[in-house]
Amino acid sequence: MKRKIIVGNWKMNPTTLSEAVNLFKKVKNTAQRLAHTHVIVCPPFPYITKFTSSTAKPSVGIGAQNAFFEERGAFTGEVSPVMLRDLGVSHVIIGHSERRAEGESDEIVAKKVQAVLESGIHPIVCVGEKDRDAHGLYLDILRIQIKNSLAMIPKRLANQLVIAYEPVWAIGSKEPMEPAVIEETVIFIRKILADIFGQENALRTVILYGGSINFRNAPDIIIRGKVDGLLVGGESVNIPGFTELLKAVDVV
Ligand code: PGA
Repeated sequence: MKRKIIVGNWKMNPTTLSEAVNLFKKVKNTAQRLAHTHVIVCPPFPYITKFTSSTAKPSVGIGAQNAFFEERGAFTGEVSPVMLRDLGVSHVIIGHSERRAEGESDEIVAKKVQAVLESGIHPIVCVGEKDRDAHGLYLDILRIQIKNSLAMIPKRLANQLVIAYEPVWAIGSKEPMEPAVIEETVIFIRKILADIFGQENALRTVILYGGSINFRNAPDIIIRGKVDGLLVGGESVNIPGFTELLKAVDVV
């Protein structure tokens, strides 16, 4: 059975270190008992060093929610991928729709993706349409967004890429996307990846789905949506929900 990847995006939560420690402890206890699932948690920056570990294969991988495209220098408030790599961070979410809404363009995303890859970390590149129109224009929008966001990836590092397909309208809403539609869209995304990096890389690229995942719908999305894993927002900071989700996904 191929290992599924579950990424918890804590966003700007929780507000205290003690809550973060408690949440992480619960996730780790559950993750240690999983046989077929790799769990990655992306806490806010200030908590990261509390959770990174020097072991080669920690039971919970640590990701960041953003990184800048330069290694060092006069960039007040920014964090470089090299710093994150040094702390033991394995993944970085890039181009989340909440950052794109704040003005992060495809060009900035592309530069960040390149810098993260060059530093030896896996970028989790978020892509997704804002809405779906009846004429299929959203497919062109998605294609352009993906091509532009991945425009600066060196081919030799393409196999380190993770894509998170997150239709913006499904984030933080009541329902995720229909699994059959997720499957269709993932096929479409792999076709675009094949155009850029070739068929072999495209088939190997890890593609996650994100948007209103909870412990009830997660197994079905993995099975029928045919994704390699999930990017989980709200449910990842809900202790009973996220631990249930991990256990449920591990056995599908
Ligand atoms: P959600 O968020 O699971 O709360 O919908 C997903 C995300 O924004 O990555």
